[in-house]
Amino acid sequence: MFSVTILADTTTTIAWVILLVAVLGWIVYGLANIRSSKREIGSEIKLAANRKPYYDDERLEGEKIERTQFIGLAFLAVVTIALPLYWILEPGRMVGAEKEFQHQFETWGGGLFATTADGGYNCAGCHGGMKGGGGVASYAITDPKTGAVEQVNWKAPAINTVFYRYSDEEFRFILDYGRPFSPMSAWGLVGGGPLNDQQIQTVLEYVKSIQIPRDENGKLPAAKQQEIQAEAERLVKAKTYATVGEALFNLDLGSGNFSCARCHTKGWSYGQPQITGGGALGPNLTGGSAVRQFPQRDEMIEFIKGGSELGKKYGQQGQGSGRMPAFGLMLTDDQIASIIDYVRGL
Ligand code: HEC
Ligand code: HEC
Repeated sequence: MFSVTILADTTTTIAWVILLVAVLGWIVYGLANIRSSKREIGSEIKLAANRKPYYDDERLEGEKIERTQFIGLAFLAVVTIALPLYWILEPGRMVGAEKEFQHQFETWGGGLFATTADGGYNCAGCHGGMKGGGGVASYAITDPKTGAVEQVNWKAPAINTVFYRYSDEEFRFILDYGRPFSPMSAWGLVGGGPLNDQQIQTVLEYVKSIQIPRDENGKLPAAKQQEIQAEAERLVKAKTYATVGEALFNLDLGSGNFSCARCHTKGWSYGQPQITGGGALGPNLTGGSAVRQFPQRDEMIEFIKGGSELGKKYGQQGQGSGRMPAFGLMLTDDQIASIIDYVRGL
């Protein structure tokens, strides 16, 4: 890729040199012409080009025609060599240009992503810096019954794995409309935010560029999955949770982006969890509802791995909105199995 870019750069440089030589040549030719024409003033009749006797036949059919043919041949050679050469170099130039544009978009997106102090829209301020590793945002919640207002710290999930879980389309939806019940406000113009479609797209390109690099199967690298496992096992050992499944459901790594509770347990995100799995952005999973929705365990595994899709049916009578993330590339099959055991027992 790199050498191709260099090739493309070299081609551009050569083209510039040729252009420069050609332009300079024309200027010199033009000046020379003006000078010689000035000297002709008053003597046009004698010196007019079309009144001079021309070469004799010998010269015309000999030296002159040969020279003309040679020039023609030379141009033909240039065309036959230059065209294939252009053809060879063009894909490289295109790749180079694409890379350049990509880089440009990521840089612009990074500018929008940056903290307010750095002139951005503060994604970095809430989501854990320019790498998006997860953070918190202060937020005021109102008690629905008493109307009392309370200041809380709301977990802002790590977004350096967001494309393991969501499609581009789903990401744009989240950005456009935000999570209106939380500190994540709407950013797209359609949702009443400040960013136009192009800006949302450049933010998307930036967020793509900070994703944790995938393993060869497109999954979260094994080291990261082991880190998740180790943390879950530690919590079981510490008796915080009874099973690995329960620990994974409630896990707080990356501000909850590897777990379920932040969407399925009201209050989990600001340290006041109510009934576990009792429903928040995601539906209530208690009272055996997961078993009712997915009488077949396999079907539930498919759903947790693939997430929901806008408009698509899932389970018995579920219709996806695209907001239930896909966990198939994030967690191991064993981890998903233990979460499912736990959820089916809720
Ligand atoms: C004021 C703090 C704040 C700012 C600024 C902010 N976010 Fe968020 N964002 C959050 C919180 C909190 C959530 C989680 C909401 C919830 O509990 O569902 C979130 C959720 C998200 C999600 C969904 C992740 C998931 O897995 O559910 C994405 C993607 C995201 N934000 C991207 C961005 C981008 C890009 C920007 C900048 C344009 C941004 N956020 C600005 C606080 C913020
Ligand atoms: C970003 C928020 C979010 C996270 C994180 C999340 N879910 Fe969901 N979940 C949803 C939403 C929203 C739905 C409803 C379907 C839809 O809108 O597409 C849903 C639906 C479900 C359903 C179907 C429930 C029904 O009765 O229809 C199950 C089961 C489920 N989620 C389990 C999980 C498990 C297990 C995890 C963790 C591995 C998890 N969810 C993580 C948001 C989330």
